[in-house]
Amino acid sequence: MLANARDTDDIDDTMAVSPIRRLRGELRLPGDKSISHRAAMIASLARGQSILENFSTAQDCAATIDCLRALGVRVAQSESTIIVEGNGIAELQTPSQTLDAQNSGTTMRLLAGILAGQPFTTTITGDLSLVTRPMRRVAEPLRMMGAEVELDARDCAPLRITGRRPLHSINYQTPIASAQIKSAVLLAALAAEGITTVAEPVQTRDHTERLLREFGAQIEWDEKAVSVQGGVELQSRQLVIPGDISSAAFFIAAAASLPGSDLVIREVGLNPTRTHFLATLKALGADINVTEERLEAGEPVGSIHVRGVPLKETTRLDISGASVSNLIDELPLLAFLSASLGCEMTLRDAGELRVKESDRIAATVANLSSMGAAIDERVDGWRLEAGGKLQGAYLSAFNDHRIAMSCAAAALSASGTSQIAGARNSVAVSLPEFWRLLETVAE
Ligand code: S3P
Repeated sequence: MLANARDTDDIDDTMAVSPIRRLRGELRLPGDKSISHRAAMIASLARGQSILENFSTAQDCAATIDCLRALGVRVAQSESTIIVEGNGIAELQTPSQTLDAQNSGTTMRLLAGILAGQPFTTTITGDLSLVTRPMRRVAEPLRMMGAEVELDARDCAPLRITGRRPLHSINYQTPIASAQIKSAVLLAALAAEGITTVAEPVQTRDHTERLLREFGAQIEWDEKAVSVQGGVELQSRQLVIPGDISSAAFFIAAAASLPGSDLVIREVGLNPTRTHFLATLKALGADINVTEERLEAGEPVGSIHVRGVPLKETTRLDISGASVSNLIDELPLLAFLSASLGCEMTLRDAGELRVKESDRIAATVANLSSMGAAIDERVDGWRLEAGGKLQGAYLSAFNDHRIAMSCAAAALSASGTSQIAGARNSVAVSLPEFWRLLETVAE
């Protein structure tokens, strides 16, 4: 099914993906990337030793650990467990070099929140993709709290942050639905005097809120706003990070599009701000059963069972407004899945996709057009016509892990082999095991 391509310019980084019959078996996935970043950062601010099991294997989370170490935090790693020795919020040290968030927007934006409350100057940069992504959105509230945040002339990284403690508490309404902006302000709020409140246009993933509560912060939230009390000391914890539902999504989509598939994914995070993808697939007629089992790290965890059944080709997906933010990382995958099933899809209000690890609107439209789909690019989304089967084609990951895995999921049910340039290595940003795991369940 999978092979390293031998006939392309970029041999080592291209994957050839041929159609398969179905996916069968059982998977357990490494810890959720969003939760792992936050758990490592919050454990660094807590007092005492935190043990974080099933920590994400993503390169993005390794970048977070490297940055925390550069700030003087001791982090030991043994297989999938990390041990963080936190000394409290006041004990981070001035780093001797520029911090490198690599490809990770979450590392850069959340760390900016922590650095805003540290009375020293830090510079944080990233790779060629990250230094083109917008940072004013995080600089603005942190400046309102009293930190100095300098950006480059395009309002991008490198960020040069001179923090202060205590910061001012603020009442902030985020102009964009972004868990990264909200989380940066909540982390800064730990070093502020009084109560900081963040309101959002639409509720985004609430992992920071749940973890802060686990580590002993005084925090309250509902669908509209979060309030956190500054100056409260956090306590270390031992946690098991739930499996990453956004990584599970690629396997779920592939299984749902191949009749006869029977796939179980165990120990997956089922936070309601992250499960809209499952509801959307069910609306297309997918046979998905979710068993919620327990709480881990303050997060619901359970199993997802997908059986491949013929789906409703006549169904139309129309995504806009509030649902965009809760599907944000799965929107390209939904387009590839809709195209595989031959159904129509319209996406609006998703301009944020243009400032992810790649321009995900352009990347989705380019790849699906290559596979023979009729898809029109819009400023804030796309319009995909109902159509026939996708054809294997020469595709590009656009240096973006989620585009690589979306292409792979669609290539498994296309006719003919696809070559996906840049797909072999880019998956490591969130799931280095992707290709190996796919081999274990592909038939
Ligand atoms: C993330 C939030 C989202 C998401 C990203 C991870 C997080 O970004 O796309 O993959 O961990 O907070 P935005 O906050 O920019 O929407």
